[in-house]
Amino acid sequence: MSTTTNNKLELRVQSISYAAQDTYLVELCAVDGRVLPEATPGAHIDLHLLNGIIRSYSLVRAETQPHSYVVGIKKDAASRGGSRYVHEELRVGAVLTVSEPRNHFPLNTSAQHSVLIAGGIGITPIWCMAQFLEQQGASWELWYSVRTRADAAFVKQMEALGGKVHLHVDDEAGQVMNLQAIIDAAAPDAHFYCCGPAPMLDAYEQATAQRNPETVHMERFAAKEAIALEGGFVVSLARTGKDVVIPEGSSILDVLLDQGVAIDYSCQEGICGCCEVTVLEGDVDHRDAILSESERAQNSTMMVCCSGSRSQRLVLDI
Ligand code: FES
Repeated sequence: MSTTTNNKLELRVQSISYAAQDTYLVELCAVDGRVLPEATPGAHIDLHLLNGIIRSYSLVRAETQPHSYVVGIKKDAASRGGSRYVHEELRVGAVLTVSEPRNHFPLNTSAQHSVLIAGGIGITPIWCMAQFLEQQGASWELWYSVRTRADAAFVKQMEALGGKVHLHVDDEAGQVMNLQAIIDAAAPDAHFYCCGPAPMLDAYEQATAQRNPETVHMERFAAKEAIALEGGFVVSLARTGKDVVIPEGSSILDVLLDQGVAIDYSCQEGICGCCEVTVLEGDVDHRDAILSESERAQNSTMMVCCSGSRSQRLVLDI
């Protein structure tokens, strides 16, 4: 189950360091030096960048009383201003508004064994989980796939963990990592976690299709489904009693913002969970990449940036 919070922090960029090719680690501390809210394995934070863009990044470390947060940020060639801004303009000393950690990719800490799978920058939440499981003395293994050795982050620390970590370098192996073989070799009660590019996640979904869905966990960096822009329904805002019509071509979030409704948002494509709201009535057309099938069926929350409605009316707790 996901956790949400909308509280904001003012954090200073303490350091920016090199982790791998095109990948920086950005460390953020409270401006007043106070201890930060707990970060659990798999959590992420939203950075409100100084160019007005809000982006979510996964945390590298899980701590109950963190003195800083560290996020891994890869420069994306197709960046719309998030990672490019961080790599080219963000400087040590800058103060950013940052959300408290949210976790839509939580670890099951009672699993007998955890199989962690990462591709590229997807290593950030996965490495966070690996370190946490190691500290807990839990049973785990990590499979980390990169295109070239220069793309691999945290390699020195991983080497210290010995045989639990398996690094797969595509251009040395001449092929992509065999996810089916990794999953087939795991015990029936193992839990699986995967974060990486879309083709890897699609292959992971296929490879785990026969596993208990409760043991299969993943986090996407990009939307899988198109945003619902069909419109033609009414959203009732329960806290004010106001009704707003969602026309064709607009998302619920678009209309709420136009109407001056205060609502948090970040990715606007259903992957960060920032805009999650409670659903009181109606049949949601879920399009996000966060809620599990059972959470979708419960119909108790929705992401208003991307999801629509199958019913004529949705009542939201806004
Ligand atoms: S803004 Fe990211 S899920 Fe809606």
